[in-house]
Amino acid sequence: MNIIITGGAGFIGSHVVRLFVEKYPQYKIFNVDKLTYAGNLANLKDIENKPNYTFVKADICDFDTIYALMQREHIDGIIHLAAESHVDRSIKDPFTFARTNVMGTLSMLQAAKLYWESLPEGYEGKRFYHISTDEVYGALELTHPEGLHSDISAHEVYGDEFFTEDRKYQPHSPYSASKASSDHFVRAFHDTYGMPTIVTNCSNNYGPYQFPEKLIPLFINNIRHRRPLPVYGKGENVRDWLYVVDHARAIDTIFHKGAIAETYNIGGFNEWKNIDIVKVLINTTDRLLGRKEGEDMDLITYVTDRAGHDLRYAIDSRKLKRELGWEPSLQFEEGIEITVRWYLENQAWMDNVTSGDYQRYYDEMYKDR
Ligand code: NAD
Ligand code: DAU
Repeated sequence: MNIIITGGAGFIGSHVVRLFVEKYPQYKIFNVDKLTYAGNLANLKDIENKPNYTFVKADICDFDTIYALMQREHIDGIIHLAAESHVDRSIKDPFTFARTNVMGTLSMLQAAKLYWESLPEGYEGKRFYHISTDEVYGALELTHPEGLHSDISAHEVYGDEFFTEDRKYQPHSPYSASKASSDHFVRAFHDTYGMPTIVTNCSNNYGPYQFPEKLIPLFINNIRHRRPLPVYGKGENVRDWLYVVDHARAIDTIFHKGAIAETYNIGGFNEWKNIDIVKVLINTTDRLLGRKEGEDMDLITYVTDRAGHDLRYAIDSRKLKRELGWEPSLQFEEGIEITVRWYLENQAWMDNVTSGDYQRYYDEMYKDR
């Protein structure tokens, strides 16, 4: 197969590109990425010279370029990850999110439609796989604020409800509204034109190469430099965390075995309150730096809550396990240890992405705190 992976220079995309390039030498993988602040080719240094890998610097909104690439390279499959992905940025600048996440997805869909419909075999053997998020489902209640041990959870659950695939969309942030809109376009292309589409909705990812504006890498770096840790609100919000390589494995499974027009939820059954994650990060980082475990607890700084902050996300991924046999391979404790170690050992990567433009943005974003 000849496959376009969009957003391959970003956090999750780089893990997906790496997995496909290494596991499928018979495929040709085209990484299409605009290289925004979140895209970094250093994330793919180890595979950049592989014969089955090509980087194409392009904006997904640029229909002509995407269409020409599809024609030239006889593209059979698209795994679409490119997006603006940070909720706080979407609150400040929703237009960029509508442009890339909605119009960019539409441009990818339309290019695939026109190219595939021009072929004698049409949509036969083709696949448009759209990567979405659990945030489109809205927020769940904290009906068990103290946490409840559960058979299906590696850790605790904090409520009775979970997001299943048939749950109503109820996005709250401009980011999740833009992702919801793109999901609707993808399904509309199946229903209207018969395009073979798949959508998956995944929970919070963590692991190497995540841009340090997101909770986990931001806080590891701040602990290292003994900077304040800005916990939004009371730190009571709950997220369901999945190691990024397990997400990439799920994408591989679903791209190859998933049923057309289906939706699959991907999650770790691994719910944590933000404040508890922060304590784990402090203990782990302190230990790995040779400090006394927990000595940096006083860096915790409660700040004004995120506007419209969703209280709890919890994915029910049993359909994916039941139908395609996927489940997470890593326990959270193991994944966090690998992750903290990676950021501490890759300070050059961190210094690179936190310099220049990013730093200016960051100063602006947090100037009131
Ligand atoms: P990221 O911000 O780390 O990377 C996004 C990538 O897309 C970057 O390489 C960027 O350069 C590229 N990009 C942005 N705009 C582009 C454009 N107009 N044209 C071409 N490339 C462009 O994001 P991520 O965290 O890796 O998320 C990837 C996808 O997975 C997104 O669609 C996101 O909604 C989804 N998702 C993320 C998570 C998570 O926890 N990070 C969870 C579930 C779903
Ligand atoms: O659920 C999937 C989503 O997870 C993805 O679709 C998004 O692309 C991804 O960014 C992530 O969204 P979140 O908003 O949950 O992730 P973030 O790392 O920004 O925040 C995690 C939690 O930590 C959230 O409740 C807000 C809180 N937080 C975050 C930051 C950056 C803080 O308390 N302080 C912070 O400085």
